[in-house]
Amino acid sequence: MSSSRNDWFPTPIWHFTVDNYQRLNPILLQEIDAEQQRDRKGEKWSNILGWHSVNNLHERDRFSEFTQIIHKNVLEVATFLRWDLQQFSVNITTCWAVVNGKLASNSVHNHPNSILSGVYYLKAPDNCGSIFFSDPRPASQMLIPPVTEFNLWTFPKVSYKPHEGTMLLFPSWLLHGVDMNMSEEARICLSFNIGMSPLK
Ligand SMILES: [Fe+2]
Repeated sequence: MSSSRNDWFPTPIWHFTVDNYQRLNPILLQEIDAEQQRDRKGEKWSNILGWHSVNNLHERDRFSEFTQIIHKNVLEVATFLRWDLQQFSVNITTCWAVVNGKLASNSVHNHPNSILSGVYYLKAPDNCGSIFFSDPRPASQMLIPPVTEFNLWTFPKVSYKPHEGTMLLFPSWLLHGVDMNMSEEARICLSFNIGMSPLK
């Protein structure tokens, strides 16, 4: 008797460590703070109690180093996925900051009209809330046998504790949310969407 198994339809979540984050983050934090002073009300999306900026921060000069880092990481993903960049280009369509103070969180959502989404952590104190991703196969949750231990095939969701200087990239259709910030300090991140445009 022999057997084999195929594991089809994997869902990738990439993480990158930004080399020069100790130098880059204060510049970005200063910009975000100024924007929060200017626009105290912010925008309402998935944020619960947190502040969400306007979504065009990538167009600002002081974010150019950050957007270059995004492009470099997206190209790595595109190469891995064998995207044919002779036929289309990838570009940042939106980029926004989220500041979650104590007790703030983000409800479960995904990012329509994008091919990749990402988040970069600027301030991530202990207990500030992990980002979690849900199993994208809702039917897999219809009847769940007990397990002695969860593994890659049975996790209903996965969580990532945020780390300053880390960037995550994931498919935009993947449902995710952020746990409540139980720290006294703010959790600050930049999020972004990547879209595709046909080459002329
Ligand atoms: Fe999101």
